[in-house]
Amino acid sequence: MSFSYQGQTLHADSVGITDLMASYGSPLYVYSRSDIENNWREFDAAFGAHPHLICYAVKANSNIAVLNVLAKIGAGFDIVSIGELARVLAAGADASKCVFSGVAKTTQEIERGLEVGIRCFNVESAAELERIEQVAARLNVQAPISIRVNPNVDAKTHPYISTGLKGNKFGVDIDDAIDLYQQAHHSQYLNVQGLDCHIGSQLTDVTPLLDALDKVLELVVKLNNQGIAIAHLDLGGGVGIRYDNEDTIDINTYIDTIVKKVGNLEVILEPGRAIVGNAGVFITQVEFLKQNSDKSFAIVDGAMNDLLRPTLYGAYHQVLPVNENAQGLDAHWDLVGPICETGDFLAKDRKLSLTEGDYLAIMSAGAYGFGMSSNYNSRPRVAEVMVSDNQHHLIRKRETIQDLFNTETLIND
Ligand code: LLP
Repeated sequence: MSFSYQGQTLHADSVGITDLMASYGSPLYVYSRSDIENNWREFDAAFGAHPHLICYAVKANSNIAVLNVLAKIGAGFDIVSIGELARVLAAGADASKCVFSGVAKTTQEIERGLEVGIRCFNVESAAELERIEQVAARLNVQAPISIRVNPNVDAKTHPYISTGLKGNKFGVDIDDAIDLYQQAHHSQYLNVQGLDCHIGSQLTDVTPLLDALDKVLELVVKLNNQGIAIAHLDLGGGVGIRYDNEDTIDINTYIDTIVKKVGNLEVILEPGRAIVGNAGVFITQVEFLKQNSDKSFAIVDGAMNDLLRPTLYGAYHQVLPVNENAQGLDAHWDLVGPICETGDFLAKDRKLSLTEGDYLAIMSAGAYGFGMSSNYNSRPRVAEVMVSDNQHHLIRKRETIQDLFNTETLIND
C-alpha cells in the first residue's frame, strides 16, 4: 500500500500530500504508479505459463498516463467506446491486445475497431452481430468475435453494478447463444474467437464467478461438439477491493482455480477496479464546519460532481486526515460538498477531529472516481497527479472557468 503516514503526514509513495496540495491546489486526485503496476502484475503473474491476457477495463480510470504505464508493462485493454479506443492508442497500446465490449457499438466504432485491428468484439445481441457482419462485409474483412453470454448468476453486489442476471440488459441468454454462434460460424465475414462473460463489479465472494465459469465451460463443450472451436475465454472483470473491512477475493486462488478448470483455453480477464481502485485517493479541503442540534457538517471543497460513488451507490470510502495528529473539533462529521443537492455527500458520520483548512483524503478513489466526474453546478473538473517514488507528475490540468463554456455559443439575433 503506497498511501501511508510518514512523520505525521499522509504520503503517496515518498511524496507528502501537503506538498502536492501546495503545488497543485485542492481538490485533487492522486495516483500511485507503483500500486497500479503491482496490481496489474499480480493478475498477470498468477497465470504463470498459462496463455492469458490481462485487459485493464479502461472505464475504471481512463487518464492516458494510467493507460500508458499499463501499456508499458504489457497490459491489454477492455474498451467500450471509440473514445476509449482513441485513448488507448494515444497511450501507446497495441490494438491487437484490445477487446471491445459494450451493448451498443455504433457502425463508426465497429469500422474503427476493424481498421486498427483490435483483438476481438464482445458481441451482446443478435442485432449487434448482424451490424458487425454488415460492416465487415462492406470493408471486405473478417471481424473477430466472441459472444457475451448472460449466465443468469447473481453476483450479489449493488443492483446498479450487477450484470449477469436475466433481468439485466447485458449479454445474450446463455440458452440462445448456440444459434448465434452457428450463425457467426457460417458467415464469411465473422471469425469466432472466443466466449465472453462478465457478471458484475465489486464482487467480494468468488462463488458467483466460479458458477459462471462452470456454465460457460459447459457451453464451450457444446460448441466444440458442433464443430465450433473456441480459442479464448474472456471472464470479464469484477474482482472487488477493500473499501472498508469487507472480504476480498484472493486473486491467486481465483486464477489457480480458473487455470485448473479451463484446460488449454487462453483466458482473458478485464479487471478495472482491482488495478486502480486502491491506487488512488481524492484529496479535499475543509471549507467550513457547521453544527446544529442534530448534525455536524464538514463542508468540503470536493463534491458529488468530483466523486459520485457515495451519492449514486451509497458507497463507503474511508476518510483519513492528511495530518495524522490534526487537533480540532471532535465530532461525528458528515462530509458534504458545495453542490445544491441534499444528496451531495462524500461520507457520513465519521469520527474526526477537524479544523477549517484541513485536508482530508478520501481513500480508494482511483476507480470510477475522476472518470464519473462532471461539471455539475459549473464546477471545473479537478486536476490529477501521478506519483512515482519521489517524483510527481501533473497528468491532467485542472479545468479553467473558461473551459466550462468555451464549446457553447450564444444565439445571435
Ligand atoms: N468488463 C466489463 C464488460 C464491464 O462492464 C466492467 C465494469 C468491467 C469489465 C470492469 O469491472 P471491474 O473489474 O472494475 O469491477 N461505476 C461503478 C462500477 C461500474 C462497473 C461497470 N462495468 C462503481 O463505481 O462501482
